[in-house]
This record gives sequence, C-alpha cells and structure tokens, in this order.
Amino acid sequence: MSWTLEGRTCLVTGATSGIGQETAIGLAGEGAHVVIAGRDPQRADAAREDIVRNSGNDRVDTLLADFSSLAGVRKLADAFLSTHGALHVLVNNAGIVNLRREVTEDGFEATFAVNHLAYFLLTRLLETRLRESAPARVVSVASDAHRFGRLDLDDLQSERGYGGIPLVGAMRVYGTSKLANILFTRELARRLAGSGVTANCVHPGPVATRLGTNNGTAGRVVTGLLRPFFLTPAQGAETSIYVAAAPELESVNGAYFAKKRQLEPSSAARNDDLARSLWEASSRLVGIEA
Ligand SMILES: NC(=O)c1ccc[n+]([C@@H]2O[C@H](COP(=O)([O-])OP(=O)(O)OC[C@H]3O[C@@H](n4cnc5c(N)ncnc54)[C@H](OP(=O)(O)O)[C@@H]3O)[C@@H](O)[C@H]2O)c1
Repeated sequence: MSWTLEGRTCLVTGATSGIGQETAIGLAGEGAHVVIAGRDPQRADAAREDIVRNSGNDRVDTLLADFSSLAGVRKLADAFLSTHGALHVLVNNAGIVNLRREVTEDGFEATFAVNHLAYFLLTRLLETRLRESAPARVVSVASDAHRFGRLDLDDLQSERGYGGIPLVGAMRVYGTSKLANILFTRELARRLAGSGVTANCVHPGPVATRLGTNNGTAGRVVTGLLRPFFLTPAQGAETSIYVAAAPELESVNGAYFAKKRQLEPSSAARNDDLARSLWEASSRLVGIEA
C-alpha cells in the first residue's frame, strides 16, 4: 500500500504558531490524527481550534512542554508514549532566534538547546515507537541559514559564537543550530537505514512568522520590515507537509529539501565525521547512549 496520512498519527512541535501551526493544518487536512506540542496552554488551545477549523478534522490533540529544558522534552516524550499508540510522522519544528546569548536551566546556550538538543532528544526518546510504527518519517525543520553556521565542537554552547558584530554573531549562532539539524538528520538517516523509518530535513524559505519577535524592539522592527518580502506561514509549511506526506518520497532518506525539491546543503552539512561527532557530543549532553 502506498504512503498516505489518512488515519496515521503525526506529532508536530512548535505548532502554536507560524510554520508548525500551518504544517499541522496540512497534515490534519490529509486525514491524519495530529498531536500538537506547545508550551503555553492558552496558545495550544487556540492553535488546536484553528487547526480543527481550517482542516475540517477534529482529531487534533495537544501536549504541553517547554523545550528549553531537557526535563521538558522528556515530559513531552513520556506524555506522548503513554497517551498515544503509533507514531508515523514526527515533525521537529519548534525553534527560536536569540539576538543575545541566553542560558537554559540545564546550562546550555538556549538556541542550541531548543533548536538542536530538543530535536535530538525528542527523536531519540520516540525512536523505538517510530520503528515499531514503520513505515514512518522524521521531518526536521532546518534552514538555509545553516550556511552561516560554523559548528565548533569545542564551543557548542557559543561562549565565543556571539562575539564580534552583534547581529552577525546571532545569525551565526542560529545558523549553527540549523547546521546541527542537517547533521543530525544525516546521522539519524544512516542509523535508520533499512528500518522503514526515514529522516529528512527542510528549509521552509523566508517566512513571516513570530520568529525573532522575542528580541524586544529590535527584533520586532527587523521582522516587521522584512514581513512584506517573506512567504506566508501557509506557503512556508508546504515543504514540511510535502516531505511528510508525499508517497513518492517513501524511500528518500537523509535528504535536505527546499521548495519541495532536494537541494545540496553546505559542505559542512555533508560532513559525515562532523555528523557523527555531533551525535556523540549531543548524546553526552542529554545523558543518553550514543
Ligand atoms: N520563519 C522563517 O523565515 C524560517 C526560515 C527557516 C527556518 N525556520 C524554522 O522554522 C521553524 C518554525 O519557526 P517559525 O518561523 O514558524 O517561528 P514561530 O512563529 O516563532 O514559531 C515557533 C514555534 O516554536 C515554539 N517554541 C519556541 N520556543 C519553544 C520552547 N522553548 N519550547 C516549546 N516550544 C517552543 C513556539 O511556541 P510559542 O507559540 O509558545 O512561542 C512556536 O510554536 C523553526 O525551527 C525555525 O528555525 C523559519
């Protein structure tokens, strides 16, 4: 039987806004049972209502967790595993941009923690369920901003990364977290080969969302000025939905997509040794076996 989302269970993180919310609408519109992860109960309820209204599918559930802590990620995985059966599609999407360096309660630089370590830990905690549910897919939302990134294994917490010109440093740190998404996908795909579970990642394009608006007036002014030139969130979700739903991608594993096409990421993002080293370092940081 060819791949269809009808009746399958999808978990979408960061589905209370922007690209994630529109991805959830798209997947629910294809007949999936969609579980959305948010961190704020009111925003999650409002997103659920919007997803049900716009998809015409009321099989939408919410789970709550803050991904800036490893405990939050573990809480979400436990809640999913205890309340839901199969998992056919995991969309790692929740993300942030911080203009200034912030540190999480676990002592990690916040962009690296939310954008990479949460993707990594959540996927690892749900991996057995994904394998049991095969065919299944992991879709991670990366970015072409990965081309600005520079993954320094001796400075994963960006103690030096924010140095230099402020906006440039922040873009480099964000880009590095998105480079980590692609390297994670590459190593995950290698490990999943032959299991019936695939791992791919996407660049949604430049999209007018709430991304960056947590950075005070500067963040709101910059995002407000760029807004007219950017895609709508629904357009930005198209590639995530495509990679999750397209039957013809059933055997595509470890690829990077933009505008619904495979694209070659940067040479750093194709470095298998770097992907393996990041996997090992991430395993140590989150406290699981590599
Ligand atoms: N927008 C772009 O141009 C663009 C381009 C390339 C890649 N991306 C990527 O697309 C993804 C989605 O971003 P977006 O543009 O849709 O931004 P957005 O509108 O700000 O949505 C981000 C989502 O992530 C959630 N989130 C943020 N921090 C979280 C935390 N600590 N714990 C749990 N959830 C958290 C947010 O929850 P709240 O609703 O509670 O804030 C929201 O649901 C990100 O991975 C981003 O890097 C975006």
